[in-house]
Amino acid sequence: EKGGWSSFMAKEISEQPEAVANTLLGRSADGAVHIPELDGLDDTLRGIERIVILGCGTAAYAGMIGKYAIEKWARIPVEVDLSHEFRYREPVIDERTLVLSISQSGETMDTLMAVKYAIEAGAKTISICNTQGATIARESDAVIYTHAGPEVAVASTKALVAQVTAVYLFGLHLARLRGTLGTAEASVLLAELQAVPAKLATVLEQHAEIRELAHWMSDTRSVLFLGRHVGYPVALEGALKLKELAYIHAEGFAAGELKHGPIALIEPGQPVFVVVPSPRGADSLHPKVVSNIQEIRARGARVLAIAEAGDASVLPYADKVFTIPPASAFFEPLLAFAPLQIFAMELAAAKGLDVDQPRNLAKSVTVE
Ligand code: F6R
Repeated sequence: EKGGWSSFMAKEISEQPEAVANTLLGRSADGAVHIPELDGLDDTLRGIERIVILGCGTAAYAGMIGKYAIEKWARIPVEVDLSHEFRYREPVIDERTLVLSISQSGETMDTLMAVKYAIEAGAKTISICNTQGATIARESDAVIYTHAGPEVAVASTKALVAQVTAVYLFGLHLARLRGTLGTAEASVLLAELQAVPAKLATVLEQHAEIRELAHWMSDTRSVLFLGRHVGYPVALEGALKLKELAYIHAEGFAAGELKHGPIALIEPGQPVFVVVPSPRGADSLHPKVVSNIQEIRARGARVLAIAEAGDASVLPYADKVFTIPPASAFFEPLLAFAPLQIFAMELAAAKGLDVDQPRNLAKSVTVE
């Protein structure tokens, strides 16, 4: 069943290009996104005033990325909440609110209960779900299925890239309905999304090199992760993977937050992964992240960078660089997750741990 791979997780990481490609299938025509599952909801989607995205763990990070994209492309305020926090704080929602839930299993009790709460309050509901016919999918007004295929390993990998793909498709669909993006601009974004599978396949070729680093770091007690914009949820995901698989203390930060506290954690030898934005683009956050790298490096941090191929500016300050093919800001997460997933998996394997079935965790959390 593992098809020659050492674990389901390794197999599922390798299946990520297909997970993205299959999620894109049948959802565009003539350079424009069209999601047939949302037919009949056009008026609703034109009329909504805000969006609340709900999910837990890795799915919530897909939601955070979705917020950046939907706000930028469709110009609607988006809030992201953890499903289990949402319904216990009397959230302000009504029939002009769209609740977009994200769940691989479609059975996560926290998310299901939050969706039910939203329905009671009169909100419209759409779910992004990887399991056909799952409870959350059935409860929602509409469902955008991710086509990642069954995910067996407890840690979510290919489902995440499929979720980000689906939320981007949704953002582009909404932008078209609401007229917030020019046709040309929207089709360039779609083309970039369609280019992800081939680019992601090249990122996966660095597996052996990442394994080497992970093995070498198998005694590490703490790892920090930094990113900005859509790279921030990538940092959070890198930390979550390391915690759940390798049982190592890890934290992800928005790089801009460093000087507001976390930089005090930096001491000589502290490993820090940094997700470096592309240097291209007028509004690139690249210079700011490079200056963060210089700040932590000056305090002795061991810098492990994920940067665009050809970006020479990080080389003088990084102890190790993993590269991703050039892509504009929104498409970097889809390429930058893989090195972090592989790192956590290989570090766990080096410690002799079961990467498919980490302690204390279940694949589908059907209790509150
Ligand atoms: C992390 C992980 C969990 C799930 C979370 C939500 O690797 O797998 O954080 O992402 O429990 O699960 P779903 O997406 O099934 O609702």
